Amino acid sequence: MWVRSLLLCGVSFALPLFVTAGTCKDAEMHHEIISEGRPFAFNCTYPPVTNRAVDVTWHRASNRSSVSNNRQLRNHQDQTWILFLPLEEGDSGIYQCVIRDTHNCYRIAVNLTVVRNHWCDSSTEGPIKLSLSDEYQQSLPLGKSASLTCHLDFPDSCVLDSIKWYKGCEELKAEKQYVVSGPRLLVNNVAEEDGGSYACTARLTYLGRQFTVRNYIAVSIKEVVSGGRIPNITYPKNNSIEVQLGSTLIVDCNITDTKENTNLRCWRINETLVDDYYNDSKRIREGIETNVSFKDHIFYTVNITFLEVKMEDYGLPFMCHAGVSTAYIMLKLPAPDFRAYLIGGLMAFLLLVVSILCIYNSFKIDIKLWYRSAFYSAQAPDDEKMYDAYVLYPKCPRESQGHDMDTMVLKILPEVLEKQCGYKLFIFGRDEFPGQAVANVIDENIKLCRRLIVLVAPESPSFGFLKHMSEDQIAVYNALIQDGMKVILIELEKVKDYSGMPESIQYIRQKHGAIQWDGDFTEKSQCAKTKFWKKVRYHMPPRRYPPSSPVQLLRHTPCNCTSGKWDAAIGLITP
Ligand SMILES: *[C@@H]1O[C@H](CO)[C@@H](O)[C@H](O)[C@H]1NC(C)=O
Ligand SMILES: *[C@@H]1O[C@H](CO)[C@@H](O)[C@H](O)[C@H]1NC(C)=O
Ligand SMILES: *[C@@H]1O[C@H](CO)[C@@H](O)[C@H](O)[C@H]1NC(C)=O
Ligand SMILES: *[C@@H]1O[C@H](CO)[C@@H](O)[C@H](O)[C@H]1NC(C)=O
Ligand SMILES: *[C@@H]1O[C@H](CO)[C@@H](O)[C@H](O)[C@H]1NC(C)=O
Ligand SMILES: *[C@@H]1O[C@H](CO)[C@@H](O)[C@H](O)[C@H]1NC(C)=O
Ligand SMILES: *[C@@H]1O[C@H](CO)[C@@H](O)[C@H](O)[C@H]1NC(C)=O
Ligand SMILES: *[C@@H]1O[C@H](CO)[C@@H](O)[C@H](O)[C@H]1NC(C)=O
Ligand SMILES: *[C@@H]1O[C@H](CO)[C@@H](O)[C@H](O)[C@H]1NC(C)=O
Ligand SMILES: *[C@@H]1O[C@H](CO)[C@@H](O)[C@H](O)[C@H]1NC(C)=O
Repeated sequence: MWVRSLLLCGVSFALPLFVTAGTCKDAEMHHEIISEGRPFAFNCTYPPVTNRAVDVTWHRASNRSSVSNNRQLRNHQDQTWILFLPLEEGDSGIYQCVIRDTHNCYRIAVNLTVVRNHWCDSSTEGPIKLSLSDEYQQSLPLGKSASLTCHLDFPDSCVLDSIKWYKGCEELKAEKQYVVSGPRLLVNNVAEEDGGSYACTARLTYLGRQFTVRNYIAVSIKEVVSGGRIPNITYPKNNSIEVQLGSTLIVDCNITDTKENTNLRCWRINETLVDDYYNDSKRIREGIETNVSFKDHIFYTVNITFLEVKMEDYGLPFMCHAGVSTAYIMLKLPAPDFRAYLIGGLMAFLLLVVSILCIYNSFKIDIKLWYRSAFYSAQAPDDEKMYDAYVLYPKCPRESQGHDMDTMVLKILPEVLEKQCGYKLFIFGRDEFPGQAVANVIDENIKLCRRLIVLVAPESPSFGFLKHMSEDQIAVYNALIQDGMKVILIELEKVKDYSGMPESIQYIRQKHGAIQWDGDFTEKSQCAKTKFWKKVRYHMPPRRYPPSSPVQLLRHTPCNCTSGKWDAAIGLITP
């Protein structure tokens, strides 16, 4: 390159001289050292002369005789070429060609030296060392793949074929390390031993005559790693990348390199180009290289695309190569997100707690009743009380509500709680001894009870009773304040307004709520297993006695408290 620009400089400087002198300018001198016995050709060409309509004449410098155009002669001119078919020892000397177009004329000289060469013949030991022409000295880069070229410069009228390669005196067979491709010999993975003397031969056919061209090539091995010229892979940095299974991933390989370097940049897996490795599925592909030029370097980017990350990709090094530099990425599964797990676990726990509470709330009555029937023996609690509940209710027989109330208190309540469930109730107006003072009855008996059942109905004249019955009030107060007795408030009908009721009732209603009677007065409602009675039983103390008579037990079997065990259990499963 620099030779050419030097020449250009020289020429542009010399041009005016030449034109004014009307003579040809000596442009350059070529030196050719060629072995005897081989065909030789030299083209008279001078790059600044671009016009194709050139006039070229060859002549010998020694006696200024011109070279003949007779193609049958051993040494002749063929178009712009001088041909020797073949060279003889006496051909050494200087040959000149004058190349002329309409404006310019140049003289080009060739100093031809014909040498005698005993290539691998028995009289000499191995190939002799020659001081060969430039193009017969070639170099191979260590550790890379490169090629040697067999320079076969002949005019088109020469047919060249059957190219063979030799190292030393041995012919090189095309095998893994060597591949013959046209005038080239590809050498894979160049090693130190690949240096030395090479030769290539070709068969030349000219006007039906055959010759053998043999070139000698002295091959040197050169280290490609020259300081500071190594491509710099700025990314990846032998790092790992967290990526979800099945996702798409694109990773850039970013490289800075000097402008002079002509390195190959690629992605490899297991030393194979990814495009070749995944040539069937095309799941992983190398992108097209892009570059950005800077003042003193070039920035290259070549990406790798994983269309879908598979399990087998994890833990493998995907290598980015840039000349001698390499760097890899490794894929790894994302670390499990402990925060997410924690939150999830907490949510699940809360959900569990909430659902347990919900289930408990909707089944607590059944659960408690079942628990009682399962684990409480039918023995009297050891608290020296005679009754399970004291029943307090308004009395006003003339009203229809009063009638319902009486039915409830005197018939249904004893039927269910006493007969079916075995509780013992104290019902005022049934269980007191005649002639006893009302206040005494209440005061004495309420102390013998475990619960106080208060029945109320909506405000009506018939049940302003509590307002006037100080005894009942006393009973309620006793129960609430003195004994801490549990009170069960039963509404015979929905009571909207408690303001007319005594404060104690209002207080109970507010604190513990009330159980609403939802049945009628038929047999069906007199069953201990209805919702209403379950609620009442839930608030009652654990069952005290078994049903009083076996006959009644038989009659009421479907409603019996004792069968509540399985009933409740089933109720748990199918609400
Ligand atoms: C030989 O030289 C001529 C001009 O001098 C040029 O046009 C031609 O391309 C050259 N041939 C080769 C094979 O270089
Ligand atoms: C010039 O010299 C060559 C050999 O160098 C010879 O073949 C040729 O005949 C000579 N020509 C003349 C005119 O003497
Ligand atoms: C031509 O080459 C020979 C041997 O290479 C050398 O001795 C001679 O000086 C050269 N002649 C010129 C004019 O350069
Ligand atoms: C490569 O580039 C990085 C960042 O641009 C820089 O830190 C590092 O020194 C460079 N390495 C070489 C060998 O030039
Ligand atoms: C690689 O280069 C590209 C620009 O070509 C840039 O967008 C990207 O961020 C670079 N990546 C890294 C990891 O430096
Ligand atoms: C890479 O090559 C090694 C041995 O050369 C082999 O054991 C391994 O299975 C290869 N990896 C893949 C992904 O093919
Ligand atoms: C993929 O490459 C392997 C070896 O490199 C080759 O045997 C196979 O035929 C190739 N498949 C396709 C579809 O090119
Ligand atoms: C990857 O390279 C391709 C070219 O082969 C380009 O079209 C694409 O935008 C690149 N992707 C990224 C993320 O740089
Ligand atoms: C930079 O990229 C352009 C095309 O985008 C390409 O023609 C050119 O050869 C590249 N340069 C180098 C030094 O690779
Ligand atoms: C990355 O790994 C390659 C090959 O294993 C190694 O040659 C290179 O020096 C490593 N680079 C870094 C930055 O560790």
